[in-house]
Amino acid sequence: MSRLSNMLAAWCVLLLASLVSAQSSSSSSSSLFSDSRCNSNLCLSVIYSPSQKVYNMTMSTDGGGAPNGWYAVGTGNKMKGSNMMIGWVDTTGNVVMSQRTASGHDDPVTTITAAAATMHTKQSFSNSSGTVWAWSFPLSSSDSTPGSSTSFIWAANKNNNPASSTSAHLKQHSDYGTFSLDLTKPYTPSTSSSSSSSSGSNTNGTPLTPSTGANNQATSTRVLNTSNRLIIAHMIMMILGWFILVPAGILVGRYGRTLFTWFPVHRGLQIAAFVVVLIAFILIIVEVGRGGDGHFESTHAKAGLAIFILMIVQIVLGAVGHKTKRFNPSRIVHVVLGLGVTGAAIWNSSEGLSLWDWGAPRWAKWILWIWAAVLAVAYLAGLALLPRDLRQWRQSQPGAEEKQTYTGLEPYHSAGAYDTPADSSQLHLSEQHALKQQQPYQANAHPGWGAQPLQTNNAQYGYEPYAQPQRF
Ligand SMILES: *[C@@H]1O[C@H](CO)[C@@H](O)[C@H](O)[C@H]1NC(C)=O
Ligand SMILES: *[C@@H]1O[C@H](CO)[C@@H](O)[C@H](O)[C@H]1NC(C)=O
Repeated sequence: MSRLSNMLAAWCVLLLASLVSAQSSSSSSSSLFSDSRCNSNLCLSVIYSPSQKVYNMTMSTDGGGAPNGWYAVGTGNKMKGSNMMIGWVDTTGNVVMSQRTASGHDDPVTTITAAAATMHTKQSFSNSSGTVWAWSFPLSSSDSTPGSSTSFIWAANKNNNPASSTSAHLKQHSDYGTFSLDLTKPYTPSTSSSSSSSSGSNTNGTPLTPSTGANNQATSTRVLNTSNRLIIAHMIMMILGWFILVPAGILVGRYGRTLFTWFPVHRGLQIAAFVVVLIAFILIIVEVGRGGDGHFESTHAKAGLAIFILMIVQIVLGAVGHKTKRFNPSRIVHVVLGLGVTGAAIWNSSEGLSLWDWGAPRWAKWILWIWAAVLAVAYLAGLALLPRDLRQWRQSQPGAEEKQTYTGLEPYHSAGAYDTPADSSQLHLSEQHALKQQQPYQANAHPGWGAQPLQTNNAQYGYEPYAQPQRF
């Protein structure tokens, strides 16, 4: 009996020992994984424990000690159903954390379905050197298994300071996006190693994360993944469309109506621009769709959609205007709208650049604005041709023709009379040049584009080919 009981006891000890060793080996081998990302608004660092099924999250931003806007991160790649933590600083300089979720891309609510977060108030602080919000999110079964590309959403509005209540109302984010973290990277306790030692000093280790993290992580969002490829293609196409083709078409219209046969070139350029913009538009719709977020929600996207619609209106106006005479209201609207839409598109391009997680360098915007300024100067210089343009138009009016016939003045000289002595000779030369260039073209009378000349009184008035209203 005693042998049996001894054996049983030994068994139990063995069993217990193996259980304990299994326990300890599992807890020691259950390594931790971590990764972090920063952008110009905030940093997020996540430590993932597969054994505890928990994310230890740290969100940080520069500055603090006083209200400096709200910052948020959440699980997944879209607001809908995301387990979010929104942090801000109240008027007394204390950090506030509010766990929320949303049913879509709209106001986040405090009635959450996810497991409640644990706020790590000791690791959270706000002073002039920075603000840190620390907490842990227990993973729920609905959360996707963390992997090498785990998505987190982020959002911020630096100009909206909610009240100190965790259920305070927030204004919509001014910036938002997604981070992709690699949670297969082993966690190497460096600065945070001190945080396990004691609660008093550990807080000093954490504040370093925002600044050091910002430098390390700025580059890690610069990965040529599908998302960034689509964004870069969108950007190149939009720049080609709005900074090269459209302005070229506008300048051809501005200079061409007095100097050469401009319409086919103008039309060709603007159709090419439309095709390029259409491709860029489709590319970004695909990219936003991939993220699973709603379409046309940022200012950049809304403005882009409006600009795209106006571009179509602009094409229709141009086609209609072409059937009318020079200075017809539809043409004036076409010119004004065209300039306005181009200006809006240029502004929207720089908006788009600041939205990109890649972190486009500041000089990228400057290049865009400097180029836009060069184009504006070229256009304004072209406006100097407007008086002559108006003159040609007046001459082409029936009344003007009669008067000129009556006074017996040659149209050129009557035209020259309006010019200042300084530039009249120059204009005269270019007019003659324009006339020479257009005469052979006039001989085959509009090969296949636009309206035919209304009258065939070319023989009657020598200047007609150059002053014909239908051509401008
Ligand atoms: C998460 O943070 C809490 C509080 O600081 C700590 O007790 C816990 O061990 C941490 N877990 C991981 C996985 O880092
Ligand atoms: C801000 O607080 C952190 C953590 O308490 C501390 O390490 C840091 O020195 C403080 N900075 C300033 C400027 O007070």
